[in-house]
Amino acid sequence: MNRSVNLSAVATYAGLMFMSGNVFAEPHPGKVLHDKAQCMSCHTAKPYNPQKTNSYPKLVKAVQFCNDNLNAGMWEEEVEQLADYLNQEYYHFNK
Ligand code: HEC
Repeated sequence: MNRSVNLSAVATYAGLMFMSGNVFAEPHPGKVLHDKAQCMSCHTAKPYNPQKTNSYPKLVKAVQFCNDNLNAGMWEEEVEQLADYLNQEYYHFNK
């Protein structure tokens, strides 16, 4: 009894290790852009809000807006990647 409980705990732990290991090995390209552009210097105080930006196309526009305002100089493709990352982490829209 004890033994099988322990085994499943180990299996769960190993599964978590595998998943987090994967995340570290391959960060989302949009996350790299997000960190580099220091978006959180403003957005820690102004959290991303799915009620306000309520569709994926609006999310892309919002990222483009901040990119332009900050002169962050991202290409359209990078804006897309960043929007995809924010969608995955915060907004969860169906594209
Ligand atoms: C200088 C401060 C500042 C920085 C840095 C900044 N933003 Fe923004 N961002 C804003 C402001 C101001 C708004 C408009 C919010 C409002 O109207 O209330 C906004 C709005 C947004 C929104 C929509 C917000 C929502 O509630 O859904 C997104 C998405 C966003 N920014 C992404 C980014 C990304 C990506 C970066 C980095 C490239 C970034 N921002 C950097 C100030 C900033």
